[in-house]
Amino acid sequence: LIAFFQPKTLAGRRVLLTAGPTSETIDPVRVLTNRSSGRMGYALARAAAEAGAAVTLVSGPVALPCPDGVERIAVRSAADMHAAVMARAGGADLFIAVAAVADWGIANPSSLKLKKQPGGQPPQLEFVQNPDILAEVAALPGGPWCVGFAAETDHLAEHAQAKRARKGIPAIVGNLAQESMDAEDAELVIFDETGAHPLARQPKLHAARALVAWIAGHLPPR
Ligand code: CTP
Ligand code: CA
Repeated sequence: LIAFFQPKTLAGRRVLLTAGPTSETIDPVRVLTNRSSGRMGYALARAAAEAGAAVTLVSGPVALPCPDGVERIAVRSAADMHAAVMARAGGADLFIAVAAVADWGIANPSSLKLKKQPGGQPPQLEFVQNPDILAEVAALPGGPWCVGFAAETDHLAEHAQAKRARKGIPAIVGNLAQESMDAEDAELVIFDETGAHPLARQPKLHAARALVAWIAGHLPPR
């Protein structure tokens, strides 16, 4: 019922989000992944839908139900997430990248299960750098307004602002990895060209609603 009474600040807007981890195949039974429950991204998808947006959520593997009124596209690898996002980004007004995308995929995945070698000789994995989905969407001519996330262990403002500049995006949401990981609450700081805008420490859904309100106030009119 509370959802029904949220202000419809994103009415008529099309919002694309990524959430969760990605999963990179080593062999048919083993993957390389990032730590992410997906809860912040799912809370944001829900908050955007409550605010009246048409929401598409491109999600890595998580154990969460799809929020009401949200279209979910399930993906596994960063390459799959990249393809799913690039196919939809042109039609979006707003892109929010919350996913913890694996920075490296496995260059030499095995189609057969790798077997342990006697003597403890581990397999030699080779890595390939994955595409930066957010930077690519930000570079699209006429593309959506972009908001990134940055989970850092230290020097939050410096790292977040450097990342915002490098990716060419108007806003990035910073949080401390050691505090946000597996936590019920979120303590977010929005960084834009004017500086830092801290949000109160609060449950992730409340933080998501506050962030949506901030974004709605900054999103350029159509
Ligand atoms: N991101 C993305 N595609 C990637 C890597 C990151 O879309 N291949 C997005 C994330 O969803 C997040 C933002 O970029 O919104 C920042 O991600 P982060 O991992 O903090 O930044 P990186 O540029 O990968 O830098 P590093 O991991 O070295 O700190
Ligand atoms: Ca990264």
